[in-house]
Amino acid sequence: MIEFKHVSVEFNNGKNSVRAVNDVSFTIPDGEIFGIVGSSGAGKSTLMRTINGLEKPDKGEVLVDGKVVNQLSKGELRIVRGHIGMIFQHFNLITSRTVAENIAFPLKVAGKSKAEINKSVDNVLAMVDLEDKKNEYPEKLSGGQKQRVGIARALVNNTKVLLCDEPTSALDPETTNSILELLRKLSSEFGITVVIITHELSVVKSICTHAAVMDNGDLIEINDTYKLFTAPQQSFTRKLIASNEDFTLPESVIEEVKTSNQKAGNYWAILKLVYAGDSASDPVIANAAKKFDVGINVIHGKIEYIKQIPTGELHISIFGKHEEVKAAMDFIGNNVFHLEVLYEQQI
Ligand SMILES: Nc1ncnc2c1ncn2[C@@H]1O[C@H](COP(=O)(O)OP(=O)(O)OP(=O)(O)O)[C@@H](O)[C@H]1O
Ligand SMILES: [Mg+2]
Repeated sequence: MIEFKHVSVEFNNGKNSVRAVNDVSFTIPDGEIFGIVGSSGAGKSTLMRTINGLEKPDKGEVLVDGKVVNQLSKGELRIVRGHIGMIFQHFNLITSRTVAENIAFPLKVAGKSKAEINKSVDNVLAMVDLEDKKNEYPEKLSGGQKQRVGIARALVNNTKVLLCDEPTSALDPETTNSILELLRKLSSEFGITVVIITHELSVVKSICTHAAVMDNGDLIEINDTYKLFTAPQQSFTRKLIASNEDFTLPESVIEEVKTSNQKAGNYWAILKLVYAGDSASDPVIANAAKKFDVGINVIHGKIEYIKQIPTGELHISIFGKHEEVKAAMDFIGNNVFHLEVLYEQQI
């Protein structure tokens, strides 16, 4: 288990000081695939680096399996760090060494015997499905194969925790999927705790069990992935999700809704409805239109998969007298998984 307790990290560069992480507390249970997302410079990498002691908090504690990492002696830290692997966007392989030599590196540093090293290297090469590349040099490998070597190297020392800082950002979508599949396997078959920083929300949706959102050093929101994406609680999270969606409502559509409802006393809104699983949304909208004196138009709809569970999203415009629209919105809100008001205006 990884526990952050009131962790703050400050950087001082001469006169300037930056609070990279600001009083962050949360827990990552064993065996999770945990995502950390947020804006650039939010403090994600800094927070992750406190887990293996590469960064030391000014305040608070970081515990791994009950040990306070930021209070360990150098020797103790080396042992804890030995079981925490890390992989990076650009793989960080040693180009002058073969795949096997790259993977063996942490064990050599740890002073393991040749026989032990060979056994462990063969073992992790099988885990990442790369036995046939054992004696190749990194330059002969594809991006996906290089990341598999990075993962093998990170796992070679009986690793319990794998830290991944933008692990798929340099990979094409197909290769990304195969690496995500591998991370999922490491979690489910070997019980390894995986922590992933990514700017690709699709990565989080696809494999993370829980995720945290950070902005400007602060922990904004943390939740089960499905809930985080279908019912975000914070406006920063909503904006982050919206900015990552390939769908944004064209201005012309908003203008159209506005101009077609220019009747004095009218009220209009554009709503985003989210429904969980494969529950149908159509009856809810049809019923709202019947029950209340409002007009409703469907603007956009899609179904996607979060943690392999389908979720539907529908954008609708709704207009009429204020009380009627509000009552219809309440009715819809009570009958869908989540309702968000994207725009609203009283004419
Ligand atoms: N070694 C350092 N010295 C000084 N400032 C630093 C150092 N490392 C990080 N920072 C600052 O701390 C803040 C958080 O940086 P961090 O790298 O943790 O963000 P991030 O969320 O990982 O961003 P990105 O998504 O761009 O990788 C930034 O303002 C950054 O400039
Ligand atoms: Mg970073």
